[in-house]
Amino acid sequence: MTINWTGFAKKTPEERRELLQGLPLSDQSSAILQADQQLPLAIANQMAEHVLGRFSLPFSLVPDVLVDGQLYHLPFVTEEPSVVAAASFASKIIKRSGGFTTTIHQRQMIGQVILYDVSDLEQARQNILAQKEDLLDLANQAYPSIVKRGGGARDLEVKTYQDQANFLAVFVKVDTQEAMGANMVNTMMEALKFPLEQISQAKSLMAILSNYATESLVTAKCAIDLRFLSRDKKEARHLADKLVLASQFAKIDPYRASTHNKGIFNGIDAASLALGNDWRAIEAGGHAYASRHGSYQGLTTWTYCPEKEQVLGELTLPMPAASKGGSIGLNPSVQLAHDILGNPDAKTLAKLLVSIGLAQNFAALKALVSTGIQSGHMKLHAKSLALLAGAEEHETGPLVQALLQEQHMNLATAQKILTDLRNNG
Ligand code: HMG
Repeated sequence: MTINWTGFAKKTPEERRELLQGLPLSDQSSAILQADQQLPLAIANQMAEHVLGRFSLPFSLVPDVLVDGQLYHLPFVTEEPSVVAAASFASKIIKRSGGFTTTIHQRQMIGQVILYDVSDLEQARQNILAQKEDLLDLANQAYPSIVKRGGGARDLEVKTYQDQANFLAVFVKVDTQEAMGANMVNTMMEALKFPLEQISQAKSLMAILSNYATESLVTAKCAIDLRFLSRDKKEARHLADKLVLASQFAKIDPYRASTHNKGIFNGIDAASLALGNDWRAIEAGGHAYASRHGSYQGLTTWTYCPEKEQVLGELTLPMPAASKGGSIGLNPSVQLAHDILGNPDAKTLAKLLVSIGLAQNFAALKALVSTGIQSGHMKLHAKSLALLAGAEEHETGPLVQALLQEQHMNLATAQKILTDLRNNG
């Protein structure tokens, strides 16, 4: 059954939940959704330490995100106004332009065992590589369940660092299947510490997963028709040029790049949080990737194609998304989020997350190079004030328009305008 999302923003949470009954949700998810069921305290107490209670944030939905020809409805958890509106706005335009196309380059996690005081770096490197297969076997023996599931340690590389401490790092690539795999990789790396100390005649410093997941790169692309930038063709072309300039400037100025990338992660973090994924790990990998050329740069690239009259967007990111493991099975809202998406696998989640990052960047840049960011914010703020003032649906439009003309937009002004509107008509 296809859902008609028209007017979704104007519905009440109850009406939106009712509409979602049109999705093929499990009975359990339907119950979680209808009851707005929260994380049980007993489970919260198992997930973290010194627990006092639970902490709530808005759980929202970005409908109709078209990725590789398939529609997804992406749950978002964010406290920041206009993030969901911007993602919905951009996803709608990108869907009408043909949607996102994505490429998964690889899907492996990297673990590191770091050794120091290595007296002969080259000899140690050769000795380790000579025992590569045995070391991979040892890693796999330390975590047999992932081998049974078809994953496991796949490859091993050695990097040496000629300096005071004579560091040597062993990089192990692990197929973690549906999990992000931090526990799995850490267990494997710790199992390799002692054998590596012996082989290299050195001391181990640490053994840990790397969040710079360069073996889990994903690219999302979109091609947006010029007409969606403005109805006026000349203005649309002008905005397209400014969008391209915005992407160029973010490549050369780290102050702008930081804000540019923050906008990308507005969407990726919100969806990762809803999906119970480790958004700190995803952010850390993304920011390291933004510095891969030696300076911190904007992560998206926007160009203009005059032949097709389209703006082309591209984003590549390390995306160690997970559909299993961590707190995913524990939190009812997270289970619901996966069910709303149709329980996709980890690779599909990774494609969705990178796509929504690109969408979020498009919305922010479009606003920045046209009306400015405050105009959208003020419009949303005016809507919230109108609702807070008690406006009925038919009163919201005129009240918002009137509020946007005011110098001081606050609840008292909204209430006064609403009273005047009611008295006059
Ligand atoms: P607009 O053109 O005024 O919106 O844009 P509209 O009222 O004409 O509605 C257009 C569509 O936007 C709607 O279609 C919705 O899809 C969506 P419809 O449903 O009407 O057919 N939309 C909404 N969806 C849900 N709830 C709403 C809502 N309103 C519109 N209340 C909009 C308004 C906010 C979308 C636009 O101005 C925008 O995209 N602005 C960017 C906002 C943004 O990026 N916010 C993030 C916080 S700022 C930041 O942290 C990042 C930044 O610093 C990054 C950077 O610098 O690069 C900006």
